[in-house]
Amino acid sequence: MTAIRRTTRTWMTAAMVLLGATARAEFGDPVGGLTIDELARFTAGRDTFEEVETVADGLGPVFNGDSCAACHNVGGTGGGSTLVETRFGKTTAGAFDPMTSHGGSLIQNQGIGAQGTCTFVGEQVPAEATIRAGRRTTPLFGLGLVDSVPAITLLSLAAIEARWQPATAGRPNIVTDVVTGKRAVGKFGWKSQVPNLLHFSGDAYLNEMGITSPLFPNENCPQGDCSLLACDPVADPEDDGTDVALFNDFMRLLAPPPRPRLGFAELGGSCVFDHIGCANCHVRTLITGASPVQALRFRSFKPFSDFLLHDMGSLGDGIAQGRARGTEMRTAPLWGLHLLTTFLHDGRATTIADAILAHDGQGRAARNRFAALSPDARARLLKFLGAL
Ligand code: HEC
Ligand code: HEC
Repeated sequence: MTAIRRTTRTWMTAAMVLLGATARAEFGDPVGGLTIDELARFTAGRDTFEEVETVADGLGPVFNGDSCAACHNVGGTGGGSTLVETRFGKTTAGAFDPMTSHGGSLIQNQGIGAQGTCTFVGEQVPAEATIRAGRRTTPLFGLGLVDSVPAITLLSLAAIEARWQPATAGRPNIVTDVVTGKRAVGKFGWKSQVPNLLHFSGDAYLNEMGITSPLFPNENCPQGDCSLLACDPVADPEDDGTDVALFNDFMRLLAPPPRPRLGFAELGGSCVFDHIGCANCHVRTLITGASPVQALRFRSFKPFSDFLLHDMGSLGDGIAQGRARGTEMRTAPLWGLHLLTTFLHDGRATTIADAILAHDGQGRAARNRFAALSPDARARLLKFLGAL
């Protein structure tokens, strides 16, 4: 049944792609120019990304959502949402302490209930925590292109920024890649704390849904109490790696947000964007490197981000991940901005203007130049950003 549905869906997608060859890709479409085999992987990946998992599949014992699409859905499967998760921690001897013994730093806010002699409930921020941060669900459109950018590109970008614009220069996060076991440049997540989409697939399956896989074989201890894991009903790894590979396929082949249509006012706003220094961090264009997928190979795309960490002062969320300090955040990509209704890592801003006005630290000077714009220039800039 599923196989037939999948095949039909693949052919329908293929037909739509062929018929609409000259039309613009929509949110949720696959990258243009895929082979039939790649399209089949995209649709199979999307099905798995949308699939609701049950306790018998390995969901939990604590989790945040029962499918990837439960959170990633605005604008199409793979979008972001206004859903905000909670991280916590405290400072111990001057350093960030993720409070792993209390189930930190990420809260899993739901439990699978009574299992044998245990009862699994959602985690709570412990009283001892002094740091509490919200993290909004980010959209995944076009991330296969970001995944295909060579690490050396981001390292060079950091060096160029340090040389030519030291006041706003970003630095790469350096993290351990679970796929290779080696150090790698981080690209994904609010702190660039994850180096590639395969790693993120396993990470999210475990940390959002409580499903273990060969890359992430150990369950999280609910609220830090590892003795409870004796009651976990399904043996690890709960996924043999198949689902994780399918999530990776879907996200890798998911098209970038459609190119915006810019009128006269928006083009004026685009100049203001460069002029007041927004593009120092929100770098317009990046180019992919080699890729096994022809359609992702040596392509230029416009994410409006350098994917580097910047010290954002009071806007930072206080959580340290990899090399990222509490005040450092990844430049948020601005492509697809018009789909968002809440902005910044914790969704605290409800307008683009408020998001800009909250920039602090290395973003303070650009923020001040924005605040000083004439009403006309400001309106054009906001029109441009609203068209992305
Ligand atoms: C309960 C909600 C929720 C569920 C379920 C969920 N995510 Fe996410 N996702 C988030 C949040 C929140 C973030 C931002 C995380 C951060 O950086 O702290 C995120 C970020 C991501 C990113 C990084 C995107 C970027 O901008 O760099 C990827 C990739 C991702 N999720 C994939 C998945 C996959 C695959 C699944 C299913 C296995 C999944 N997510 C399930 C909430 C969710
Ligand atoms: C020093 C680097 C830097 C500069 C300069 C900068 N930004 Fe940002 N921007 C960031 C970072 C980092 C974030 C993510 C901050 C967070 O949410 O904690 C961000 C977030 C945003 C967001 C919210 C996006 C989202 O997904 O929520 C918008 C909109 C934005 N910036 C626009 C601008 C504009 C317009 C300018 C120029 C006035 C500008 N930025 C200048 C680094 C910068």
